[in-house]
Amino acid sequence: MTLKLWTHCNVATLQAGTVAGAPAQPYGLVDDAALVVEGATVLWVGPRAQLPPQLEARCTQRFDAGGALITPGLIDCHTHLVYGGDRAAEFELRLNGASYEDIARSGGGITSTVQATRAATPEALTTQSTRRLKQLMAEGVTTVEIKSGYGLALEQERKCLQVARGLGQRHAVDIRTTFLGAHALPPEFAGRADDYIDLVLLMLPALHGEGLVDAVDAFCERIAFSPAQTARVFAAARALGLPVKLHAEQLSDSGGAAMAAGFAATSCDHLEWLSDAGAAAMAAAGSVAVLLPGAFYFLRETKLPPVEILRRHGVPIAISTDSNPGSSPCTSLLLMLNMACTLFRLTPEEALAGVTRVAAQALGLKDRGVLAPGMRADFVLWDVQRPAQLAYALGANPAIQTIFNGEAR
Ligand code: NIG
Ligand code: FE
Repeated sequence: MTLKLWTHCNVATLQAGTVAGAPAQPYGLVDDAALVVEGATVLWVGPRAQLPPQLEARCTQRFDAGGALITPGLIDCHTHLVYGGDRAAEFELRLNGASYEDIARSGGGITSTVQATRAATPEALTTQSTRRLKQLMAEGVTTVEIKSGYGLALEQERKCLQVARGLGQRHAVDIRTTFLGAHALPPEFAGRADDYIDLVLLMLPALHGEGLVDAVDAFCERIAFSPAQTARVFAAARALGLPVKLHAEQLSDSGGAAMAAGFAATSCDHLEWLSDAGAAAMAAAGSVAVLLPGAFYFLRETKLPPVEILRRHGVPIAISTDSNPGSSPCTSLLLMLNMACTLFRLTPEEALAGVTRVAAQALGLKDRGVLAPGMRADFVLWDVQRPAQLAYALGANPAIQTIFNGEAR
């Protein structure tokens, strides 16, 4: 197999310890590095001066990175990318005084996107979602998690998950799908939330049987589902061997994170209202905290996620766009990197780990998020000198080139 070699680059490997014998650095950074790729896999990364000559001799394709910084491909681990319509009108309503919860209670909010999504053909959904996916990809995103949850009926959830899978087949990006049947109560089930959960429990094995589900999520909140209702969904998911994750403590503390930790959730997401006990439960279960600065910003929340408490308990922190029409109409993971630092006070190193190494962990993926031998050859060449520049700039896109599965895309 041809070996490819990149030199004249600094590589932020995101490895935690030493890299090829060189002392540990923040970001797992290697200055004047060499990176060798075999097929779709990293074979060697480390200081250029340490590259074994016999390995270098086998590299038949050589690339001068021109002094670029190389990072792992970015991972957007929480999106609702596939949906119909938009919610600009609701944005206007909020600017005229209505709250996100008021709008949800009066039949707007998620329910209005459900109507638009149900009415859309798969082709129309694909066109609309492709635009958003390309915006993410332009910034070096190589893995995207996409949730259903705007169909809320079997054929409609299937349509959305199939569109999501189709995006992954048509573009050089890895798509992970999450079934979010318990996202909101569809209007035809008004006042009958437990009956709707019965339906979710029928949809889940059917869609899983069709190979459409990589994980299961729910929205546990006073405007959505209770911890007890969510637990029914999670028990069914775990019985099928599927990992679970939760929209937890976004608008209030309902104890969702601790409940999800009881099901060994791979992640709990949002978490502005997370308690100390919730963080302790997540730490014990090994759950990742996915923080979503876009939703915090766009809904003008004032309660910050408890970053200090998460750090104290050693809960790993990931960052994502939460790309969706209602709370975070955002297709820039780099902007989220900046907002994680400015709004949530993460360090740039924590933020970059949050869209690479820890984001992979939030998806239960062990083969990416770090550049090390045996990992996927998904990486980005950036026109910056130091990693902090990626979090520092607002609205810049310094991506020069993205390599996906060992190939330039
Ligand atoms: O992650 N919180 C629940 N779900 C989405 C918002 C969905 C919507 O408003 O359409 C979120 O914020
Ligand atoms: Fe979300």
